[in-house]
Amino acid sequence: LFTANAMPHLLNHPLASHVMTHLRDKTTKPATFRTLCYQLSLLLAIEATRDLPTETKTIETPLERAEGQVLSHHSLVVVPILRAGLGMVQPFLDLFPDVSVGYIGLERDHATAVARSYYCKLPPLTAQSRVVLVDPMLATGGSAVQALDVVASQGASDVTLVSIVSSPEGVAAVRKRYPTLPIFTAALDRELNARKYILPGLGDFGDRLYGT
Ligand code: PRP
Ligand code: URA
Repeated sequence: LFTANAMPHLLNHPLASHVMTHLRDKTTKPATFRTLCYQLSLLLAIEATRDLPTETKTIETPLERAEGQVLSHHSLVVVPILRAGLGMVQPFLDLFPDVSVGYIGLERDHATAVARSYYCKLPPLTAQSRVVLVDPMLATGGSAVQALDVVASQGASDVTLVSIVSSPEGVAAVRKRYPTLPIFTAALDRELNARKYILPGLGDFGDRLYGT
């Protein structure tokens, strides 16, 4: 279905598989679901920032002078798509204390599955910003493409998309508009059902995260 470079980056770790299985389980309650979401998002945050630039810094250990690498000053911006994307923000705050957070509110219409925009608050974005757009479900790809269009229109050109569960249709929709955009995901599922839910998926992520 995908050519090699169009494939999303998939988490490949036994812990990720373990956590994903419990996340999918319909008996998992919101408190546990939030913890599992945090754990997978942490693993994804580490993978998605693997290529952040570093620079050499000389420090003194208690024994001698040594050179090490530190993150270059870099404007990292995480942008969750509300509401479910909020569940993926905390690991970025924990790992990168200087990260900025922008918000894009989109909600899919239950009948048409087309997303409607209801909120947008972004920090200034430039070509130097590394924007990580986070949304746990990449289903039709409509929400992700709308959000990517927003951050691109605000000046971002270095953008990565991070999702927890992706469908082949969603990846293809993003690829069609942004052929080289890096996509990181914990699972690439089989297909969408008639109501545009991901199969096997995990149901409505926002509802399971917030007990609605
Ligand atoms: C879900 C999910 C994504 C979107 C994915 O949000 O969190 O944002 O659907 O579907 P798509 O790829 O077909 O656009 P939803 O609209 O249910 O809103 P919520 O996060 O507030 O629950
Ligand atoms: N949004 C969800 O929360 N789940 C799906 O399966 C598809 C879109």
